[in-house]
Parts: sequence; C-alpha cells; structure tokens
Amino acid sequence: MATEPSSTTPVPALNRTRQLEMYHRARKTLPGGTNSNFRAWGEDTIYVDRGKGGTIWDLDGNEYIDLRLGYGPVILGHNDERVDDYVNEQMRRGVSFSLTSEDEVRAMELICELTGWVEMARMTVSGTEATMHAMRIARAYTGRNKIVKFEGQYHGVHDYALISVTPDDMSELGDADNPVRLTWGRGIPEQVADTIIPARYNNIEFLRRLFEREGDDIAAIIVEPVLGNAQGIMPEPGFHQAMRALTEEFGILLIFDEVKTGFRFARGGAAEYFGITPDLATYAKAMGNGYPAAAFGGRAEVMSVLPDKVSHGGTYAGNRVAAAAAVKTLEIIRDTDALDTIRTTGLRIQDGVREVLNPTGLPYHFTGHPSMFGIMFTDDVASEYRDWANTDHDLYDAIAIGMQARGAMPEPDSREPWFMCEAHAEGDVVDRVVTIFAESLDAALEARAHGGAHPKPEGAMSKSAAG
Ligand SMILES: Cc1ncc(COP(=O)(O)O)c(C=O)c1O
Repeated sequence: MATEPSSTTPVPALNRTRQLEMYHRARKTLPGGTNSNFRAWGEDTIYVDRGKGGTIWDLDGNEYIDLRLGYGPVILGHNDERVDDYVNEQMRRGVSFSLTSEDEVRAMELICELTGWVEMARMTVSGTEATMHAMRIARAYTGRNKIVKFEGQYHGVHDYALISVTPDDMSELGDADNPVRLTWGRGIPEQVADTIIPARYNNIEFLRRLFEREGDDIAAIIVEPVLGNAQGIMPEPGFHQAMRALTEEFGILLIFDEVKTGFRFARGGAAEYFGITPDLATYAKAMGNGYPAAAFGGRAEVMSVLPDKVSHGGTYAGNRVAAAAAVKTLEIIRDTDALDTIRTTGLRIQDGVREVLNPTGLPYHFTGHPSMFGIMFTDDVASEYRDWANTDHDLYDAIAIGMQARGAMPEPDSREPWFMCEAHAEGDVVDRVVTIFAESLDAALEARAHGGAHPKPEGAMSKSAAG
C-alpha cells in the first residue's frame, strides 16, 4: 500500500516482491487470492510469514506493529509460549476424536466462572457458528421465529447474520424509522432474510414500537454490546439496561454477541463491564488467543433445549487444539493482570494520539474501550452505525494506510477498531505507534492540502469488500 507522496514526510516504500508473486499465484486457486473476502486487498494483499508478541512480519520481511491482531483474537500476543506450549503438549495426544476431552469441560467451566452468569455452554469452531446456534436456541426456547439485529453489527457470515451489516451508503439501509433488510451479497434466501428485523442501536423507542407491533413473534435480540465492527460505538447510558428490561417485558431473549468483547473488556466480558445479565452469549476470538475456539452459552434453563430438542454438533466442536487453547488463555486471563495491562496500554496510546491531534484543531474523539478503540474524526458522538457516514473516514483511512507503510498496521478501514494485546506493553511499542500515527497524519493532511486524493487499496475496505 502506498500513500500520496508528501513533500515533508516521505512514505517509506515497502518491499512487496514476494507478496505480489504470491498474490498472482494464489489468485489462480483462491478467489481473490485469500480465504476470506475481508483479506482480499487486490495487489496490496498481505501474505504473512510470522508473528511474535505484538509484531508481525510479511513474506517480504516487512515488520509491523500489529493493531489488527487478526480482528481481535490475539489478546495476549502472537505465538504466546504459555498457550502454545500447553496446546502442543495436549495435541500430541491426538486432536480429533469426536469424543469429549477434559479440556473441553474445563474450558466451559472457565467460561461459567469468569462470566459469573453463564451456567452452560458448548464449543463451536467459529464465532459465526456460535451466533447461528445461539439464534436457533432462542427460536427453539421461545417457539418464535424472528430475530432483531442492529444495523452496522456483524455476527458472522451465516445467512441470518448478513443483514444490514456495513454498507458505505447509508441510504441502502432505508428510511431511519423503517429500515429495510439489506442482505450482504447474493445467495441469501428472501425467506431467511425475512426472519431478521433490523433495528437502530441506542434507540430504545424504536425497539418499544417494534416489540409492541411484532413482539409475539420475536425470539431474541442479538447485540454486539458495542458496535465492534463500527469503531466500537458505545451504548448511551442506560441503553443496555433499558433493552434488558424491555426484552423481559416482552418475553424476548437477549443475546450478547461477545465475540469481540468477551474476555477483553473485562474477565466477564461486556456483560460484566456494562452490568447486564443476558440470556445467551457468544464467545470466540479472545477466548483462544488466536486458536479457533468459540462457544455459545447462557442460562441453564435456556440451554437445556440441548441436547434433546435442538440440533447442535460439529466434527471439530471442542477439538483438542481449540479446547487446550481456551483453557490456557482463559486461565491466564483469570489469574494474571493481562487485561489491566492491555487497558493501560490502550490508554497510553490514546494519550499519545491525543497529544498529536489536539494541536491540529481537528475534531475527533475516541470510541470504544481502551483495549479495542476507534478514532472518529468528528465533533459529534456517534450513537449508531448511520453516524459513521458523517465522520471524516477518508482522513482516517489515509492515516491507516500511511501507518501500514511506516510499520504499524491498523485495518485500513475506519470501522475496524485498533486492537491491543498484552505484548503491546513491551519495549517501545506505544511510542512507536504514536510516532507512526503522527507522521502518517502529517502526510495525510499534506496530501489533502495539495488536493491529493487518498488512495485506498483495492478492496481494502474490509467490511465492504464482500459486498
Ligand atoms: C461480533 C462478532 N460476531 C461474530 C463474528 C464472527 O466470528 P468468526 O469470524 O469467528 O466467524 C465476528 C467476527 O469478526 C464478530 O466480530
């Protein structure tokens, strides 16, 4: 990726020879040259070699402080020896039996212990599966069909989740009082889409009107406690409490999708952080420090539709590698001050960024939690996904692209937060991130002053690339 050349701050040229070769080779067998639409950045696609702690290296040997952390899972750091050693030890005993090992039981016990409210849980391989199963459980338990989800929230790539996710053009979401079901990409049957009702985050009046109209057929609301896929936009004070009360009033289940926030915001995730007890929750990412561990769980009464009344299974559900990773990662989160370290590191980076931004007079504010935060270039505090359109996201994207060229890698899409891991506290990572941010901001403003467009890598808008 390259930014517009600036007269003051030259953009370092990254060596991309091997990666370009790999891109052209990979494109022959993998659509877009990658295994996920979100990684397909055209000729700027990154092919990774390795990671250690908070740093990654690409195939050409370019080094980056990793602020993406695989979209969040790497909570401790890449290649964490505490987790990897335990996983290695366990996997030598065989990985896949479709039988149950003690680590699976320990992992679910740890989820119950750390959250304090989950009474039963089951493992899946991905967050996508976790949200899919949670929705099915809610439907089975209530005997109702519809699920409410919020605009701008991402719950994975199953058909019930890909509704009104992250368009660039807000008019596609329809009238604010009567949002349309916007399917993300083709192949989602209309009948499936029709069971999902898009709602507007932070708008309790909207929910009340909806519940009064259709509550009898609504099984659950699924909510990312913060808009983790839109800069971590926060709930307004009292929003979660009001939603909890409203769902109880109408006999509707509340599903917290904690795939990004779980074991990151607090040991008990966003539910603990906001003081809410949902009925069901989904976990993935931070629970396995990057290994494919995920789970859904909740109140015993709700979960007890399993195993007799609802289907759930999976050859790899609870496989040895994932279960071992979850046990060790959750133990570290329980027994050490890793989450405090991560939070403090995020706050230190925010302090540094603030010192860079304040003298410029640019309007901005931080969104989200210090362990997972966005920078919004606007005076107005965003309260829902539609507000993102009114921010200066072009400036953000130009800075992010410039940062990548200078050795720190946030997602080049302002919707994706910066993720912190425990290893970012080491060495001079904080100072380097701030310096790289400052240089990239200068370059972006300089380019803008000279009328230069901010180039964006082909397909780099992670959330819209799939659209
Ligand atoms: C809130 C949320 N839910 C679900 C998912 C899907 O998880 P996975 O990518 O493991 O399928 C994601 C992934 O980013 C997510 O952020």
